[in-house]
Amino acid sequence: MLITTGSQQALDLLAKVLVDPGSRILVENPTYLGALQAFSLFEPAVVPIECDAAGIVPEALTEAVIRGARFAYTMPNFQNPTGRRLPLARRQQLVSTMRAANVVVVEDDPYGELAYTGEPLPTLLSMNPDGVVYLGSFSKIVAPGLRVGYAIAPEPLMKKLVQTKQASDLHTSGFAQRMIYEALRTGFLDVHVKHIREVYAAQRDAMLASLTSYCASRMTWNVPEGGMFLWARVPDSVDASRLLEATLAPANGPRVAFVPGFPFYASVADTHTLRLSFVTVPPPRIEEGVAQVATVLAKLL
Ligand SMILES: Cc1ncc(COP(=O)(O)O)c(C=O)c1O
Repeated sequence: MLITTGSQQALDLLAKVLVDPGSRILVENPTYLGALQAFSLFEPAVVPIECDAAGIVPEALTEAVIRGARFAYTMPNFQNPTGRRLPLARRQQLVSTMRAANVVVVEDDPYGELAYTGEPLPTLLSMNPDGVVYLGSFSKIVAPGLRVGYAIAPEPLMKKLVQTKQASDLHTSGFAQRMIYEALRTGFLDVHVKHIREVYAAQRDAMLASLTSYCASRMTWNVPEGGMFLWARVPDSVDASRLLEATLAPANGPRVAFVPGFPFYASVADTHTLRLSFVTVPPPRIEEGVAQVATVLAKLL
């Protein structure tokens, strides 16, 4: 295990070690914007894998798609931006296909602890420790500002990651690591995670209820089993970026921010998608915000 300065650093280190200009890397579609940013500096050919509401479609992992890829980057738990969780059978298929093709899987899992409903599912790492790099982070369960994450990687790759990390920042702040250590040692983290799971689950439910009350005729959305986001879609006649401009400067009522979906796509974007976060504000403000989005959307339509 290598302690990293957030899992964002692990994404950067992996790209430094594994990507040359033109290297093919496989990503979900849509995928985490920050990963695309980290990888793109090393000029890969980013190949989006076909996904549906449950995540990567195993049948899309044909030999033509995966052959020669440097790695496949995936978030099986409560993906950023969609909030979806990859079902067990698909995890198994993904791991066995990649193992057979000798392609490393990068499993990015900062949201795994934030599960609200459904059964816990095994990590991809547990299914093939020799072929999976697992990225963890304390950002979503303690504090993003501490910048403490970790990577678990097969030995040969780990040696390269360690060298590359030393060249980047020598080591992750010892002070921040000690704070995380104390949070673990004293049992604080267990209590805290249990608490935020309850709070976030209630906020997720509040957002789902508000969407049903205010947006049912104009938007579609998914029901995430965990994480921080849900993924929604507005009608084809409205661009989500235009909606954002309008909700940030409404004629009346609160200003509302969300993230339009387009930057999360590695290729052609669905510009009518949006990512809504339910973790930042309490239920009454969630309801106020969703009602405002509904009002602004109705005007645009
Ligand atoms: C999927 C995913 N990976 C990595 C990160 C980076 O997190 P960290 O703060 O650990 O660098 C984020 C942050 O939003 C994320 O959503």
